[in-house]
Amino acid sequence: MPQASAERGESPTRVLVTGAGGYLASFVVRELLADSRLAGASFVLTDLTDVGAPHDPRVRFAAGDLADEEFAAGLLDPASDIVIHLAGVLGGAAEADYDLARRVNVDATLRLFEWLRRPGRPARVVYASSIAVFGPPLSDPCVDDSPAHPGTPPAHHRRVHVRGRPGRGARRGGALA
Ligand SMILES: NC(=O)c1ccc[n+]([C@@H]2O[C@H](COP(=O)([O-])OP(=O)(O)OC[C@H]3O[C@@H](n4cnc5c(N)ncnc54)[C@H](O)[C@@H]3O)[C@@H](O)[C@H]2O)c1
Repeated sequence: MPQASAERGESPTRVLVTGAGGYLASFVVRELLADSRLAGASFVLTDLTDVGAPHDPRVRFAAGDLADEEFAAGLLDPASDIVIHLAGVLGGAAEADYDLARRVNVDATLRLFEWLRRPGRPARVVYASSIAVFGPPLSDPCVDDSPAHPGTPPAHHRRVHVRGRPGRGARRGGALA
């Protein structure tokens, strides 16, 4: 996390969480809001529908489709300092509608990352990949450098972003495979 921006004389830290209505986000958002380093931050939470944002004056909920270019661009205006990208079409939903899953998991995600590469206020990006990029079958042990064998559409989509190294793609300044 960046040092509190107010301490550096900058405008408050802005945090964007996509997929904010999802399972992982429910934990992540709770932790973020409780983090004293982000006491002065503002938060934009976004998901397809308004799932009821936490009652916190720092939070704004923006409901919309991340695959909608205009909507997604609006989420980054003003620019965010921290982006936690958890939106995705997963599991059976992705198997049932490959085109939708590709639009959200690949196209919208790549567009978001490309926008975040723009010069200006650089953002710290957290992208949750999936162990599913490694199998089945999973190697034993299963480590960052294990060969990737994505077997499902969502796993293939995550492989596109991180080239088989969950968590690293977004750290390489936008070097997406
Ligand atoms: N749950 C886990 O244990 C786990 C483990 C490792 C990685 N991950 C990864 O973390 C991410 C989130 O997982 P989760 O379990 O919270 O999933 P989830 O399905 O609970 O949440 C995903 C959210 O994305 C939203 N979403 C889908 N399409 C959208 C669109 N077009 N526009 C905006 N929002 C959209 C959904 O409404 C949903 O709320 C995924 O990338 C997943 O692969 C999850």
